[in-house]
Amino acid sequence: MIVPTYNERDNVEELVRRVNVACSASGIDVEMVIVDDNSPDGTGQLADDLGKKYDIKVIHRAGKLGLSTAVLEGFDAAKGEILVVMDADLSHPPEKIPAMIAKLVDENADMVIGSRYIKGGMVENWPFHRRVISKCATLLAKGLTKVKDPMSGFFAIKREVIDGVELNPIGYKIALEILVKGRIKKVDEVPITFADRKAGKSKLGTSVTLKYVDHCIKLYEHKKPWLARYIKFAFVGGIGTVINLAILWAGVELFMLYYLTAEAIAFVVADTNNFIWNRWWTFRSKGKIRIQYPQFLLVSLDGLMLNLILLYLLVESVFPAVGVGQDKASVYLLLAQVIVIFLVSTFNFFANSLWTFSKEMTFKPKV
Ligand code: GDD
Ligand code: MN
Repeated sequence: MIVPTYNERDNVEELVRRVNVACSASGIDVEMVIVDDNSPDGTGQLADDLGKKYDIKVIHRAGKLGLSTAVLEGFDAAKGEILVVMDADLSHPPEKIPAMIAKLVDENADMVIGSRYIKGGMVENWPFHRRVISKCATLLAKGLTKVKDPMSGFFAIKREVIDGVELNPIGYKIALEILVKGRIKKVDEVPITFADRKAGKSKLGTSVTLKYVDHCIKLYEHKKPWLARYIKFAFVGGIGTVINLAILWAGVELFMLYYLTAEAIAFVVADTNNFIWNRWWTFRSKGKIRIQYPQFLLVSLDGLMLNLILLYLLVESVFPAVGVGQDKASVYLLLAQVIVIFLVSTFNFFANSLWTFSKEMTFKPKV
């Protein structure tokens, strides 16, 4: 049992007692590993004292180093072949531990989640905004796992699931990390009632939310490297397009430039913007800028050529051949360019993936 604690003095004793009652009633031999980050309220000291009565190993860390790293340290320190993680604040009912372990042992599951969002599960006394945040967070992870409550901090795994797997401890969602990267064939859920913490305060803040979004993006990159980067590339391209149009407009309207001059400036600025974001964010590259930047510009220039050729073909040959575009010509011109933007972005994406940022795409993504 891994229990990370930070300022849980008023909860930890009841937790330890209930865990031991529940486990011994089911004949489960339990070792608790309490990972305390030098809680100012003396939780660590209290845990040491409880260790005289129960089988508890207390890990004292120097300061508040985060929930996920605490869990990972707990994994390393624990002796068991089955690892259970739960919060110390009594939000998670220890009485459910035997049912979770039974699924691992008897039904051969590799991971079992204590779930609020399957039949029989629920959340008690949560304010509206926490419910909404929780639901949104769960929605964001939909493409990563089929589990109904991947946000849960209450779960059990067989040790082999994470043996030799590199787990990234950013953010709070270690269960999600394991669901995506662990060696899991079968995962199951056990319904729980998530009680609001009895004492103390939640440590979840805004920075946790932002870290979570970043964590999710990285997990998508791990699971679907090409699709995730294609979407990011398109997103960057969308912003680049807005920049391009803004500069074109300003050049012509405010600075009285010839429109092709204005567009040439706009193109270079927007494309430089795209390069910076794609290098840093889409491909997370640390390669040499003086090599990658010209490569990227060259790809974009080829893309521009392709754009003109495809637009010409669509407007002059394809549309007339299928009999559209005779009237309302400008609408069809824009329609044609929208199609071309999609095709050219795809060309740019693959050219940059296979050339400019080929290192990042052939190696396994670093998450
Ligand atoms: N060692 C250590 N270090 N423990 C920590 C730290 C830390 O930096 N931050 C939090 N903890 C401990 C708390 O003492 C508690 O036992 C547990 O981690 C969860 O912290 P809470 O502050 O109670 O989190 P929460 O209730 O907001 O979030 C819980 O529910 C979420 C579901 O909505 C957690 O279980 C989340 O993982 C879960 O996603
Ligand atoms: Mn809590």
